[in-house]
Amino acid sequence: MTNATAKETAVKETTTILDLKKLALGDRSYLSFPKTTYPELEPFEHKDVGHRADPTKASLYKNAEKIFDVTPNIGTEIHGLQLSKLTNQQKDDLALLIAERGVVFFRNQDINYQQGKELGKHYGPLHIHLTEGHVPNEPEVFPIFYDKSVEAQKRSELFRDASAGWHSDVSYELQPPGFTFLKIDTLPAVGGDTYWSSNYAAYDKLSPALQKFLEGLEVVHSGKEQGLNAKARGYTQRRQDIEHTHPLIRTHPVTGWKGLFVQPVFARRIVGLSKRESDTILNLLYSHIYGGHDFQVRFKWTEDTIAVWDNRVTAHCAVFDYINIDRRHGWRITTQAERPYFDPKSKSRSEELSKKQTANK
Ligand code: SIN
Repeated sequence: MTNATAKETAVKETTTILDLKKLALGDRSYLSFPKTTYPELEPFEHKDVGHRADPTKASLYKNAEKIFDVTPNIGTEIHGLQLSKLTNQQKDDLALLIAERGVVFFRNQDINYQQGKELGKHYGPLHIHLTEGHVPNEPEVFPIFYDKSVEAQKRSELFRDASAGWHSDVSYELQPPGFTFLKIDTLPAVGGDTYWSSNYAAYDKLSPALQKFLEGLEVVHSGKEQGLNAKARGYTQRRQDIEHTHPLIRTHPVTGWKGLFVQPVFARRIVGLSKRESDTILNLLYSHIYGGHDFQVRFKWTEDTIAVWDNRVTAHCAVFDYINIDRRHGWRITTQAERPYFDPKSKSRSEELSKKQTANK
């Protein structure tokens, strides 16, 4: 191959948009696990576009066919808008809606992963995962692909107690994600739902005395085990082990509401407490999340649905009930946001909403 042809082929490889839905019907071999390593992520100043939103979110509400809340505390579904065609105002208004509702669902979406990347960049730098396989030449596009193959069955998450799967994406980063856009394009005949919990409501449902005790505490979040698991499967850990300490109660920069920022997959210990104290409190908070059916949504996907969630104020848990019978595939784009912080002047979501209701009466 001449240099010119090699260059042309390389350009073609990077610009061709793969039909992931078609590939999902084959085996997992399209996934790329390069041995490339990356430098540490650079800190950056996050400016949340939700601050530019119209509080009424009219650009969404006036143009959608239907928008409805899936549960009182978390989850809103939008019909009749394509994420691939949102205006800038709609993108900003969506940021506010996701921040308020935790997760927003869009059915029958035509968006492909290249358009998904462009959309994601509106909200923040795109995250590249430490260990996971990706679409060839597209390290920011993280496929979710589970089936009966030996390869997929090596994943430890399939064998843990289902409740232990609650997490907020890569919370161990210094500036962990704001939004994750997940498109599921291939579904098992039955099963493969996902749960989300509102961590605003999880905070609000704790007793005032426990809320006070937790405010100001910090938790170590670690990606070490994720690195070890990948290495055990023969893959490269692309950045050094990552561990960061984040506040246990976190303020959302746009809503100003407080949320519980702790989940079992990446949280390790509460700083300043003994192991016994830390384990006891973390386990109490985890069981509070697992059992919080009044602040969870269990979502039944249909093919080509996108869920967009705010990792700052939700946790989620995929249900692997289909794993011995069928396959499920999709792709995800994740945007980074601010370094988590706790503002002692921040508010409780339920208090603010009830004050608004009283004022509107
Ligand atoms: C994830 O855990 O990030 C993906 C959730 C899902 O597959 O439903």
